[in-house]
Amino acid sequence: MKFFLDTVNVDEIKRVKEWGLIEGVTTNPTLLAREVKRTGEKPFDILKEICEIVKGPVSAEVTTLEFSKAIKQAEALSEISDWITIKSPATIDGIRITGELVRKDIPVNMTLIFSANQALLAAKAGATFASPFIGRLDDIGKDGMSLVSEMVTIYNNYGFDTEVLVASIRHPQHVVEAALIGADIATIPFIVIEKMINHPLTDYGILRFEKDWEEVKSQGFKIL
Ligand code: E4P
Repeated sequence: MKFFLDTVNVDEIKRVKEWGLIEGVTTNPTLLAREVKRTGEKPFDILKEICEIVKGPVSAEVTTLEFSKAIKQAEALSEISDWITIKSPATIDGIRITGELVRKDIPVNMTLIFSANQALLAAKAGATFASPFIGRLDDIGKDGMSLVSEMVTIYNNYGFDTEVLVASIRHPQHVVEAALIGADIATIPFIVIEKMINHPLTDYGILRFEKDWEEVKSQGFKIL
């Protein structure tokens, strides 16, 4: 399972890169707008910096569904770096935009997927990634993870190359369940990736080992 980071915050991206855990990044207009406000930097500059750090797929979303404008935007975004993948929403317009971008050899992440049919159409359109928004489904009382399960089954049934990129992850258990189902990628917020590693028994175990080792050290023994 690949790990993408679901953030536009460059400091968070740099930290997770130091941990050696980052294989891509997903952004959306909300996250990008937040970072533009926080830093005062231009959106294209932020995306360029992210691509330089990550050296893996970085999703950037078109902000219009008007066909020719969306294609121009997508082309401009892909000029930023070879790592840019264009996010296009799962609507009729989004499918048309995806088909055109695929013909132009521009990789697409079909986003805002809430049903198996949308996911099937994303694969038929040739999207590289398809993003089910599981947290938002859970928010309205549906089971987001069953959509992931349906997508994995459907893509496997027909050998689609489109990868299931689980998005809208809210807590570590979402990552575990996506991994059990066999999703290709999880895009994880920084706060969730931190929670994934933390365990009180690990912290307690370290304290105990340190204490026990202190006794040996005090008798003059050492490893190095
Ligand atoms: C990533 O591709 C999505 O834009 C993101 O995961 C959405 O998350 P949210 O539902 O928490 O806003």
